[in-house]
Amino acid sequence: MKKLCLSIALIVLTTFVFAQREYHEQYRPQVHFSPPAHWMNDPNGMVYYNGVYHLFYQHYPNAAVWGPMHWGHATSTDMIHWSNKLIALYPDSLGDIFSGSAVVDELNTSGFGKNGKPPLVAIFTNAKRVDAKEGTYYDQNQSLAYSNDGGKTWEKYEHNPVLKNPNIKDFRDPKVSWYAAGNKWVMTLAVKDHIEFYSSPNLKDWTKESEFGQDLGAHGGVWECPDLFQMTADDGKKIWVLIVNINPGGPQGGSATQYFTGNFDGKTFTPNYTDTRWLDAGSDEYAGVTWGNTGPRRIFLGWMSNWAYATSVPTQAWRSAMTIPRDLKFVKEGSAYYVASEPVKELSTIKGLPKTLDLVKGNTDLSKLIKRTDGQYELNISTKKLRSFAITLSSDNGEKLEVGFDLSENAWYIDRTKAGESGFSKDFAKRISIPRIAQNSASDITLIIDAASIELFADKGLTTMTSIFFPQKPLDQISISSNDEFVADKITYTPLKSIWP
Ligand code: FRU
Repeated sequence: MKKLCLSIALIVLTTFVFAQREYHEQYRPQVHFSPPAHWMNDPNGMVYYNGVYHLFYQHYPNAAVWGPMHWGHATSTDMIHWSNKLIALYPDSLGDIFSGSAVVDELNTSGFGKNGKPPLVAIFTNAKRVDAKEGTYYDQNQSLAYSNDGGKTWEKYEHNPVLKNPNIKDFRDPKVSWYAAGNKWVMTLAVKDHIEFYSSPNLKDWTKESEFGQDLGAHGGVWECPDLFQMTADDGKKIWVLIVNINPGGPQGGSATQYFTGNFDGKTFTPNYTDTRWLDAGSDEYAGVTWGNTGPRRIFLGWMSNWAYATSVPTQAWRSAMTIPRDLKFVKEGSAYYVASEPVKELSTIKGLPKTLDLVKGNTDLSKLIKRTDGQYELNISTKKLRSFAITLSSDNGEKLEVGFDLSENAWYIDRTKAGESGFSKDFAKRISIPRIAQNSASDITLIIDAASIELFADKGLTTMTSIFFPQKPLDQISISSNDEFVADKITYTPLKSIWP
């Protein structure tokens, strides 16, 4: 009996120690989703069903580098706290499981449903490695899997693939949604340097409708991971948004998420402007798409990395995290509607007591507001008159990260040149900036700072920038500086509790 008690105590203790260690390593995000172990890239199959947000993700469960892709799985009721689930999709005879989406098939158009309950259907790219004389490539075809137990277990469709490759190397990442006006499913597919739209009555038989974008937007790399949805602006105007991820060719080099606005009539997408727009203009948001089945709400999530160095960032137990989930909305500047992002309101579930300072001039040591930052937090700054300023996060070993606004460039920027480890890639240590979109003189800024990342939502998210960094010691000192007449009407510091036990 004594022995048994001892063994149980030992098991409980080891489990506790393990649980404590997992998710508390150096650089491990505390308020962002990251996989329990090994490699993760794109968010996949994001769908909201029966009060649960499903997040699947590109996952290689055997190492912390990209390899034969699986769909990892986690669920949440608030998009902030996550529960890790079993791997949902494994590679099969048709190939590895690349990115894709998932839908609730309410009308059971696919016939996969049982007992009058709608099935969840995943639509993904089966990518089969081919080693040819010209080098390795992946034969990419679109396939289905379905679940009749709310996403716990998945069955592959026996007649996969449902959309065959017409002999194009890059033919992937299907995003499927219900187009109610046409009573049909629409698939938005990334095809090398353009988007192709397909439609289907049953998710199994697909007809090509149109192509978009060969001569529009950014084209410095391959188009990947698209998304298509409609949103309503505050003035009631309904506008379609087409998200197209691109790698390389982003504004800071490497990967990034661009978007178009316009009209979609069930067949064709017609854009209403020609300049290139970025949903996140930082260096480290990629493959971002939105959750399906969330009603009028549009919630975006991206992978917080960049293919330029994703496989060599200095974490070993796991590699990479997702951004904070973001609500998308239209903001009108001049006569154009832009897509702005803001952290989801569910973030309040982990907010501690805020501390506020009023009327803060540039060149203030913010230790009055907070002596030492302790872990992860949100910082809100509002000003009536935007001038040059910088927020500096630093540690006493001289490392620092700077984020701010430069009036002479009229640009928001993040400077991580001295923010810690960067030797793993020549592309990492840099100052990035992007011109301001907003034209008014007032500005509201939100920063979300975690162990190894910063997200800037400037002008209420009209400009959003995400950046990762790897300081040797936590950057736990914070100050504001300005060579201009910057005055913050208010600065609020809100600690965020870890989402992991
Ligand atoms: C984007 C991407 C997708 C592809 C997946 C493979 O990051 O390249 O186009 O489906 O990653 O892991």
